[in-house]
Amino acid sequence: MSASLRLVHPPEAPDSARWDAVARRDAAADGTFWSCVKTTGVYCLPSCAGRPKRENVVFVETRAEAEAAGFRPCKRCRPDRFVMGALQDRISEIDWARAHAALKADGWARLGRLLSDGECAALIAAYEEDALYRSRVVMRRHGFGEGEYRYFADPAPEIVSALRTKLYDRLAPLANEWAQALKQDRAYPRDHVAYRKVCAKAGQKRPTPLILKYGPGDYNRLHQDLYGGEVFPIQVAILLSEPGRDFEGGEFVMTEQTPRRQSRAMVAPLEKGSAIAFAVNERPMEGARGTYRVKMRHGVSEVRSAARYCLGVIFHDAS
Ligand SMILES: [Fe+2]
Ligand SMILES: [Zn+2]
Repeated sequence: MSASLRLVHPPEAPDSARWDAVARRDAAADGTFWSCVKTTGVYCLPSCAGRPKRENVVFVETRAEAEAAGFRPCKRCRPDRFVMGALQDRISEIDWARAHAALKADGWARLGRLLSDGECAALIAAYEEDALYRSRVVMRRHGFGEGEYRYFADPAPEIVSALRTKLYDRLAPLANEWAQALKQDRAYPRDHVAYRKVCAKAGQKRPTPLILKYGPGDYNRLHQDLYGGEVFPIQVAILLSEPGRDFEGGEFVMTEQTPRRQSRAMVAPLEKGSAIAFAVNERPMEGARGTYRVKMRHGVSEVRSAARYCLGVIFHDAS
């Protein structure tokens, strides 16, 4: 299997330096190369807790090389789940043409993995830090379901505000396309700073990014996240917990109501750290006799065990 592997020896990182990093389990080297273990047929992050022998290890520069040579991702360090680069780069690497096409066809799109395990863990831990939030909502009190959520105060933690501003940049062109198709006489500004000013003018000044926490038996009724007349038509949710391990059930559910039709239900498969974008409320749908107005709702089915955390990024602010 290793015969097809190309050994890489860039001057800045000879294999001896790479092996040193593996021996030290150096997390700083994660993502810069991958070690393939010939005896087990798996490939690993340099920081993996496994202890392969030097003679059994070959290094490659990309995951694609490791997989092409027949190596499987290590179950221990999960190199397949490693998130590369700065948030900005991860957002740039999303296939936005495909995401926009899916949003237009179905009202939602998978954006892939945006947050690393460490970032998910940090956001879950931050749920208990009172100073980060402007308010807490116990869903039962409002008839929203069971569970609770907290809205971040301004300024939101760096990673949350970065997600909000950078995802906005990519979604605003589609929001404008939808506004035009729905014959709404408006334009969404190019960047989120300008858009927050539009929200403030409409009396919506309070930030809406939030973390939702569901325990056993909790769920979220189908709803739309509307906080006044000013609405950005697309929002993003990022799952912070691992399905099947941290919780069971808790599926992200959407319904789509088309004129003169029964509702269509859709379930978005989500992995830990992965994101979906979906329509907040109305979206245009091209039909045989012109453009239809389709209404979307979303919710979460019952969580059957342990805890499910989710980060919600809504682009309009609340009154
Ligand atoms: Fe929601
Ligand atoms: Zn490993």
